[in-house]
Amino acid sequence: MIGSGIAGLSFALKAGNHGTVTVVTKKSSVESSTNYAQGGIAAVMDFERDSFESHIKDTLEAGGYLNDLDVVEIVVKEAPERIKELIDIGVEFEKRENGSFDLAMEGGHSQRRILHVADLTGAAIERALVDACEKHPNVTIIENAMAIDLITARKLKLKTDEDECLGAYIFDKKSGEISTYLANVTVLATGGCGQIYLNTTNPSISTGDGIAMAYRVGAKVRDLEFVQFHPTVLYTGEKSSFLISEAVRGEGGVLMTISEYEEFLKSGEKDPTKFSFMRKYDERGSLATRDIVARAIDRELKKSGDRYVYLYIAHLDPEHIKERFPNIYNTCLSYGIDITKDPIPVVPAAHYMVGGIAVNKNGQVIRRDNPNQVINRLYAIGEVACTGLHGANRLASNSLLESVVFAHRSYVDSLKYLENPVKIPLEEMPLWDATKYKPIDEKVFLKHDFDEIRRIMWNYVGIVRSNERLQRAIRRLNLLEEDISHYYWNYILNEDLIELRNVILVARLIVEASMERKQNIGLFYNIDNEKREKQSN
Ligand code: FAD
Ligand code: SIN
Repeated sequence: MIGSGIAGLSFALKAGNHGTVTVVTKKSSVESSTNYAQGGIAAVMDFERDSFESHIKDTLEAGGYLNDLDVVEIVVKEAPERIKELIDIGVEFEKRENGSFDLAMEGGHSQRRILHVADLTGAAIERALVDACEKHPNVTIIENAMAIDLITARKLKLKTDEDECLGAYIFDKKSGEISTYLANVTVLATGGCGQIYLNTTNPSISTGDGIAMAYRVGAKVRDLEFVQFHPTVLYTGEKSSFLISEAVRGEGGVLMTISEYEEFLKSGEKDPTKFSFMRKYDERGSLATRDIVARAIDRELKKSGDRYVYLYIAHLDPEHIKERFPNIYNTCLSYGIDITKDPIPVVPAAHYMVGGIAVNKNGQVIRRDNPNQVINRLYAIGEVACTGLHGANRLASNSLLESVVFAHRSYVDSLKYLENPVKIPLEEMPLWDATKYKPIDEKVFLKHDFDEIRRIMWNYVGIVRSNERLQRAIRRLNLLEEDISHYYWNYILNEDLIELRNVILVARLIVEASMERKQNIGLFYNIDNEKREKQSN
């Protein structure tokens, strides 16, 4: 198992009942996007007010109907059972006084259906999973262990027709040693790639390692042009990263430009919604889906030249705000913003990779050269995978849900490989020959390259793209890729170099996918597509 977020640990906990599971994770066991998830996990739990049909419809509408309908139905319908399992391991989703779940509202949902633990849902889930795995006699979590590459039969030229995964090369960040791990089943659960962008909500682990590793062994990737930008991230100058949950807008938070906010203050009005630019963009106002809100903010910022817009929630009961959003309240306060009184300056930032490694309905990785075949013994689950659930845009809080549903499906499917273990003995595996590499004199070059990629992606491959921007991006990325490849093949490996090699590959794949998409849909917007569509009408 590679990765210790919700996807990896959910799989490990179940697979541990059938054999030994080693979870390698590149930082501490809890460090993951999962740990920072705020809003919660979507599921139909109140069948009097809500229904599977409604959750399915909302997911499809948000996704621009590019979703795979079978997968949407699977995820929505299997949700209650997976939620029950999280509760069984100790996740205490909030309840009302009458004992029913306190379900929250988020953009694009037509019903309150988000289970949450205040605004720290991910941390509660991650803690419960880590605790359960640590108690499990068959599950071992190895921290600071970073997967570099997968080992497959075709790569080793052991097979030419079928392919199967045999394990992975793992870099020990403390000793610098590289080891070969063999496994009957290998699971990629390495999360997203938000770190490819200058501004992101994602933690530093999110460098697209899984996508890059899978691509290098011939996996198909899909939908990489659909990068979700979260509309509301606390503006802090350079590199804004602290998320202000969509649930804040779900509770009544309103977006306004700086001048709209000033007008609102002068007017003495009680209802801020009348002043919000979002009314021009969508009838749902500030609670429209993320693609619409992020693009609207981008447009307003370009028009006004402002650096941020405001998210205002101070018209609501201050005690309710503090109780419902303790993490957001305290973090904003540490920046001198009292959200019960002040507007919150926010900007969009890269948040979620909708695309990823193409997998089938059991999480098996599909081959690029032959999409009717899978790479046996290899699964991808969680944000690293693309199941087809989200279509062109992910509905809020559907990601944690997708992770637990696909962790379960993959676990069930993978049992078939246990009866037929990997046959190649470790002695026959090629070992990493560390002697041919030299030490890097100036590691700072790697930081410069990473920084350059982030800026290229932010400036040219962001919320609004154009053919010219994409071409500029690919020219620059190609040069950087050459540079990075030179470092990778000639110098002693370190964490930055491993990540950089993945980041540059995933960045290029995102640009290539963007160049291929000729229709603006969901999260994808290229101004040249719009011009062409207008001309042809
Ligand atoms: P992660 O939780 O990111 O875990 C990835 C794991 O892989 C980590 O342990 C990492 O260290 C490890 N890893 C990565 N590369 C390597 C490597 N090379 N070798 C070894 N280990 C590696 N979604 C929702 O549904 N609801 C929400 O409320 C919500 N809020 C969010 C808030 C924030 C701030 C963020 C960033 C995301 C949010 N999301 C939310 C999205 C959701 O949290 C993620 O999509 C989900 O947690 C992904 O889980 P995962 O297990 O796939 O990956
Ligand atoms: C949020 O709390 O706004 C994040 C929810 C998500 O990404 O699904």
